[in-house]
Amino acid sequence: MKILFATSEMFPLVKTGGLADVSGALPLALRALGVDVRVVLPHYAATRADWFVADGTVWQPEILGQPVTIRSGQLKDSDLPVYLIDHPVFSARSGNPYMGPDGNPWHDNPDRFALFCRAVVHFATQEGEAHWTPDIIHSNDWQTGLIPALLSGTPSIKNVFTIHNLAYQGVYDRPTFERLGLPWSLWRADALEYWGNMSFMKGGIIFSDFITTVSPTYAKEIQTPKFGYGLDGLLQHQSNKLKGILNGIGADWDPETDHFLPHHFSRSQLAGKQRIKAQLQAELGLPQEPRIPLLVHIGRLVEQKGIDLLIQALEQLPNEPIQVMVLGSGELRFEQALRQLAAQRPEQIAVRIGYDESLAHQLEAGADAFLMPSRFEPCGLNQLYSLRYGTCPIVHRVGGLADTVIHADAAHLADGSATGIVIDHLDTDAIIWAVRYFQTLYHDAPQFARMQAQGMAQDFGWMSSAKAYQAIYREIVQDRSDDHQNES
Ligand code: ADP
Ligand code: GLC
Repeated sequence: MKILFATSEMFPLVKTGGLADVSGALPLALRALGVDVRVVLPHYAATRADWFVADGTVWQPEILGQPVTIRSGQLKDSDLPVYLIDHPVFSARSGNPYMGPDGNPWHDNPDRFALFCRAVVHFATQEGEAHWTPDIIHSNDWQTGLIPALLSGTPSIKNVFTIHNLAYQGVYDRPTFERLGLPWSLWRADALEYWGNMSFMKGGIIFSDFITTVSPTYAKEIQTPKFGYGLDGLLQHQSNKLKGILNGIGADWDPETDHFLPHHFSRSQLAGKQRIKAQLQAELGLPQEPRIPLLVHIGRLVEQKGIDLLIQALEQLPNEPIQVMVLGSGELRFEQALRQLAAQRPEQIAVRIGYDESLAHQLEAGADAFLMPSRFEPCGLNQLYSLRYGTCPIVHRVGGLADTVIHADAAHLADGSATGIVIDHLDTDAIIWAVRYFQTLYHDAPQFARMQAQGMAQDFGWMSSAKAYQAIYREIVQDRSDDHQNES
């Protein structure tokens, strides 16, 4: 089975969030199962050349009259083939793959990702030199949504589409559709047309043979108006080919081997965790108090993550015996509010604005709790990393958070299954309640140790999820051979 995995980011080549972690780990897990999976992504200026081992093969097709370079190689230290789609709209712009330095999306994002989609389709269908035609293209999120649409006349290649976040849909106006030179047959309500605009995401949903999303609960939520962002009806209609498969934890996130950590630790030996906490307190300028609980947050500073509510809750806890560290970047108003809090309460709150992979690992490792009050969360990876690193996740009962954290109520504490704190109805007061409840749990040392150990014992490796994807691939390739037999 040959799978071409199309994505707009992949760790460690280029990362802005969880999609990169998934694209860096799932293909490796699939290869370990014997699936011939290869990854294709744009070649940005920010792509880390040291992680791409070029094999010297290069194709230079013209896509809508524009020269595009496709570079073939492998992810360093692996047997995973990777193809980079190179064009100045990607490789001549530094910084974030999706946004300019002003924090706004690049004005020509539809053109950039339409070009990417066309290049992927070209590569899969016409690049004879590659001697490799995929059975399935597995596309991810709106940036790849035109791939299944453009392939709709090519029944020999099947499509799987994964929704990592339905809130970002790639919706553009009709002049954009015309400029992209897409076939008029796609301007229909049962194709890309969406309330007088075009939607990349809709293309992925309508034209794929199977749709997945990244947790079972999110698969249900996106079929409701509250989480469906206007596509809930369509997703309900497609529910027989929609499944939620939980993300896993990649090999880079293991407290026993994590190369970003100055000390290592395990379930039975937690001393290294304490040392990392002390080191973080020193480096980020908070008092070195081992018994004061350290709560952290890492993430994109956007409303999805409930950062506004978290800021409000912290504003109301000036005298709480806790320490808080926040690492993130995103909307200016949240960056400013966080900086202000840290300036007002330097003994209690430390804030780092920016993107820092190494600090993210150290915060997961050194913290006692991870604050994740997301309004919605398709899967969420940080609560999984927290569980593995003995850091108590404090989450809202939505999406993947609901599927992975077991609330420390009396019953779950009594039977030992509790792994974190789960908020049912999210608002500022609920976060304040959770922070206080966490302190009660934390200061009951034997109980907290039990919870930590239970969290660390959970298996969130990629293997079982990779097998679920493999089963879907098999099913739709089987359908394809059935189609062939019926035709002949
Ligand atoms: P999302 O993809 O919605 O942003 P996830 O929880 O799935 O959320 O994944 C976020 C990933 O990005 C995690 O690996 C997290 O550690 C990382 N991350 C987010 N913000 C930062 C940051 N400022 N610095 C370092 N890593 C970050
Ligand atoms: C998205 C979601 C996040 C998920 C990630 C990887 O960015 O917001 O919940 O974990 O994709 O699937």
